[in-house]
Amino acid sequence: MRVVLGVSGGIAAYKACALLRLFREAGDDVTVVPTRAALHFVGETTWAALSGRPVQTDVWAQAHEVPHVRLGQEADLVVVAPATADLLARAAHGLADDLLTSVLLTARCPVVVAPAMHTEMWEHPATVANVALLRRRGVEVIEPSSGRLTGADTGPGRLPEAIELYAACREVLARVGTSTPGASGPLTGRRVVVTAGGTREPLDPVRYLGNRSSGKQGSALAEVAVELGAEVRLVSCNMPAPSGPTAGAIECLPVQTALELQAAVRSAASTADVIVMCAAVADFRPAHYQGAKIKKTDDGTESAPTIELVRNPDILAGLVAERAAAGATSPVIVGFAAETGDEQGTVLDHARAKLARKGCDLLVANEVGVDKTFGQDTSTAYLLRPDNDEVTVVGPTTKRAVAEAVWRAVADLLAR
Ligand code: CTP
Repeated sequence: MRVVLGVSGGIAAYKACALLRLFREAGDDVTVVPTRAALHFVGETTWAALSGRPVQTDVWAQAHEVPHVRLGQEADLVVVAPATADLLARAAHGLADDLLTSVLLTARCPVVVAPAMHTEMWEHPATVANVALLRRRGVEVIEPSSGRLTGADTGPGRLPEAIELYAACREVLARVGTSTPGASGPLTGRRVVVTAGGTREPLDPVRYLGNRSSGKQGSALAEVAVELGAEVRLVSCNMPAPSGPTAGAIECLPVQTALELQAAVRSAASTADVIVMCAAVADFRPAHYQGAKIKKTDDGTESAPTIELVRNPDILAGLVAERAAAGATSPVIVGFAAETGDEQGTVLDHARAKLARKGCDLLVANEVGVDKTFGQDTSTAYLLRPDNDEVTVVGPTTKRAVAEAVWRAVADLLAR
């Protein structure tokens, strides 16, 4: 995707560096167009190095390429962060006195602006009217957040964090259907199965053995796969159904236990090009299900029942074994690994060993722990392949950006 990142002259310009990185990590081409004032805060060298592209502020350089027309016309997204009161005013009134405002006039793609300024400027009737005018024209204006501003003052006017801006841009793109189902993408015509959430193993009608997986990473994988053109089945374990703009195109197969998950995956596997085992699967289940609620004994002792467990099948390893037995190379099989470092090794050591043990084509490892990965909107992922010692590190970033990186790696494997 071609992104134009406009930066106007506010102290929050430094946050645009992090936003630029998020787009670059997702594989997007980003051209940075700072205003002259923006260069007082972050210099041209930084923008050029981070974007890997030359940086221009006015329409006079590279005139033979007519950048003020071409950049806007060719962009899939224009995002301005931070947008100052001055930039909002110039954009609202159609001025074209530098490269960024010229781009805004020629762009026909979604335009997202993220204002940042002092509270008085944000609340001034002139700014309020300019924002209303831009919104009426279809520009997505992200509300500034409240908090500490440049000086000692606090209030609305802060630029939201890069991750929030990035998520807002992706949401706008999905909403307007820039990457709608059926559009041609790297997964067009591919059937993918994603498992997500966490299995629950019932003990009695009331209780179960479960885990803390929220299903957010799996939902993001399913949604991004639809946007990239795939036909998507989501085997969902005890999690909310996806709710993003492409949710309607995802076929959901809800299951509860590891054995149900195994049955659903095996039946979907025969026609799948890719299986992504993102679900957190219980390795053990209670050996006996108690048909009635397990009660405390009232015999005056502190006795408690002992729960006998039996092993669940390793679904992922089973898929790999079945594929090998059939002498096939399809489907591409992706495993996830929830790891913690310990005295035996780092997260990466454990992930490398798990990749060898499971035999899948790609392993996505996350570090888990209190406040890490489970239930969060962000994570850091390590992508490991069996035939390559290199590890791709993604993040810390949104689970959506992790999903994009996973599908990029899968598209590479499919292209082999
Ligand atoms: N997995 C599976 N079947 C299981 C357990 C895990 O298919 N019974 C899959 C998960 O969906 C994930 C990968 O195996 O893709 C790794 O899961 P994880 O829980 O990290 O590893 P385990 O195999 O359970 O190993 P351990 O808990 O010993 O680290």
